[in-house]
Amino acid sequence: MSGPDGIGRRAFLAALGAAGAAVAGAAALLREDRDPGAGRAFPVQGAGTLRERAAARGLLYGAAIDSSQLRDAGFAALFARECGVLVPGTELKWLALRPAPGSYDFRGADALLGFAGAAGLQVRGHTLVWHQALPAWFAPTSASGAERMLREHVETVAGRYAGRLHSWDVVNEVVEPAHGRADALRDSPWLRLLGPGYIATAFHLAAAADPKARLVLNENWLELDHPDSERKRRAVLRLLDRLVAASVPVHALGVQCHLRAERAAGGPGRLRAFLGEVAALGLEILVTELDVADAALPADVAVRDRAVAAVYEDYLAAVLDERAVTGVVTWGLSDRYTWLTGHAPHPAGVPVRPLPFDRELRPKPAWNALARAFAAAPRR
Ligand code: G3I
Repeated sequence: MSGPDGIGRRAFLAALGAAGAAVAGAAALLREDRDPGAGRAFPVQGAGTLRERAAARGLLYGAAIDSSQLRDAGFAALFARECGVLVPGTELKWLALRPAPGSYDFRGADALLGFAGAAGLQVRGHTLVWHQALPAWFAPTSASGAERMLREHVETVAGRYAGRLHSWDVVNEVVEPAHGRADALRDSPWLRLLGPGYIATAFHLAAAADPKARLVLNENWLELDHPDSERKRRAVLRLLDRLVAASVPVHALGVQCHLRAERAAGGPGRLRAFLGEVAALGLEILVTELDVADAALPADVAVRDRAVAAVYEDYLAAVLDERAVTGVVTWGLSDRYTWLTGHAPHPAGVPVRPLPFDRELRPKPAWNALARAFAAAPRR
């Protein structure tokens, strides 16, 4: 390779080495050399939508959707065909429902329930109590104030849709071992104002407001073969055990399953064992927010699609082996509308591909992986 003379040459070669290391580092980050789904194929037998294929095994399949996406006629038609259940991504959260302390805005939620009714879809409510997506005015300063807000919200919102929902995520992400409490509960405004009893209170209020809906405790980061995930699984199991022992009307655990293709390496073994422990409490289990982030995979579409599909199939094979799992919801249906576009963009600047359908609404290997997992699942 021709280059500058003497000292200059040595400096040039040193700079080249450093640059090379940087490029290697970037490539390693993008893992252009990786192909975790190599050799995997996802052939599917027969015809049928994901909704039909899940139902054939006694399972419910659906996805999250925002009311703004109903304006996309092609997407809405695909959603109505492929899904048996719908979850509003934001419209049943405090931030969307509660523009001011004394008022409610049900327009988004009502639009989605109307769409679901016309399409014969069931609806999951998400979520009555969360530490996020709270309106700016939400600032209770006393336990009595917080209790009154909680009661009024649950009675009004769950009461409005009583008898029409498959299930409610009554509380969302209430366990956080990193916050250091002995009960591993998340340090949230709800906990600070009402104490640990707010969780049971929320379930009792929801059961009174809608006796028909399954009442779900929804949690994240339960899926990995990792000490943090194991610590969280133990804490969630202890909480569920306490709630069941106290006859709190909790009917199911929601396992969000926001997966990442590069961290699936540990596999779902620990998760599978945990689901058996939850089922032993007499609880149903729902996969509530399944998607597979691909930002750490190479930019190559075929490589990413194969790797994402492999994670879908491997995780669902383990999860659906537990008969207490009755439904699977992906957190979106098409890459055209995924939260991961903003939350976990691909470093190469290419569109992310975490869901069963691509941005042009074409089925991907991930669709096949879901179909194959449903076909292989024990019938409910
Ligand atoms: O609709 C408005 C739009 O009019 C406005 O122009 C835009 C820019 O401000 O915001 C839009 O609202 C956004 C909404 O998503 C709809 O896209 C909110 O800002 C944004 O905060 C909201 O984020 C949602 C987030 O929950 C908070 O509610 C994500 O879409 C949603 O995917 C995410 O879902 C959560 C689950 O509820 C719980 N588990 C984790 C999961 C991912 O974070």
